[in-house]
Amino acid sequence: MSQSEILKRATNPKQYDSQDLEWSLEASMESPRTQFLWEYLRGYVTEWKGKRVLDIGSGDGWLLAQALMAGASCAIGVEPSTHNVALSKKLNPDIEVFETSFEEYQIIKNSADIALGILSFSHIKNLQEVLVKIEDILSVNGELFLIVPDFIHFKKPRRKYKIEFEDLSAEEYVVSITRPSGTIADIVRTNSIYVEAAKKAGLDLVEVIPMLPTEKFMTQYSDLREFEGHPIMQLLRFRKSV
Ligand SMILES: C[S@@+](CC[C@H](N)C(=O)[O-])C[C@H]1O[C@@H](n2cnc3c(N)ncnc32)[C@H](O)[C@@H]1O
Repeated sequence: MSQSEILKRATNPKQYDSQDLEWSLEASMESPRTQFLWEYLRGYVTEWKGKRVLDIGSGDGWLLAQALMAGASCAIGVEPSTHNVALSKKLNPDIEVFETSFEEYQIIKNSADIALGILSFSHIKNLQEVLVKIEDILSVNGELFLIVPDFIHFKKPRRKYKIEFEDLSAEEYVVSITRPSGTIADIVRTNSIYVEAAKKAGLDLVEVIPMLPTEKFMTQYSDLREFEGHPIMQLLRFRKSV
């Protein structure tokens, strides 16, 4: 695939409806991928009692379901894939989900205390515009949690995946990865790109957590051992400036 084809696929809001992708294998709460994300997120979710949570690219709604169980007062998903919305309605019927891209989503100012972008911001082309929109949605002291692919890890040859990538700049590349579940294209950025764009939008960095493969994840996928001690994703937490 050429750079422009990978970029087009990465930012196509209907990518997860592609015939060559079986996303439901990765999505559910039982999948090792989701359990790995949960290991890093669970400590935060318990703090969301009474909070209004908005998940951007909510997939099958697993994280919003956890937020509701932790006592969130409202859990809304924005999800452009028809397939994922259907999965969400089936698996997590208590979640309100809007079938649209976040770019097209009609926001209400000050309507969320927590915004989430869990592996969905690598499909967002205009990062700055989207972060400004999130700042508008969040209440004062509201927080944005992003999980993004690690810049070094994502282009490394691994696990017999077919990986094609092209640099967009020194701090951004597009990558197409073919796993057993199918092909997904992403835009991968350095943490600095996210941190600087968020700052410009009025969102201050609170913490960065490099997400190393956990013991459980490495037990589930033994070939991940080679990356022990090296981040495979990054968790970035921001707060709306007062
Ligand atoms: C890797 S999946 C992650 C799903 C979910 N956050 C999870 O962790 O299970 C990325 C999700 O982002 C969604 N997505 C892609 N482009 C988007 C956009 N422009 N706005 C909102 N969501 C988008 C996809 O449809 C997909 O469900």
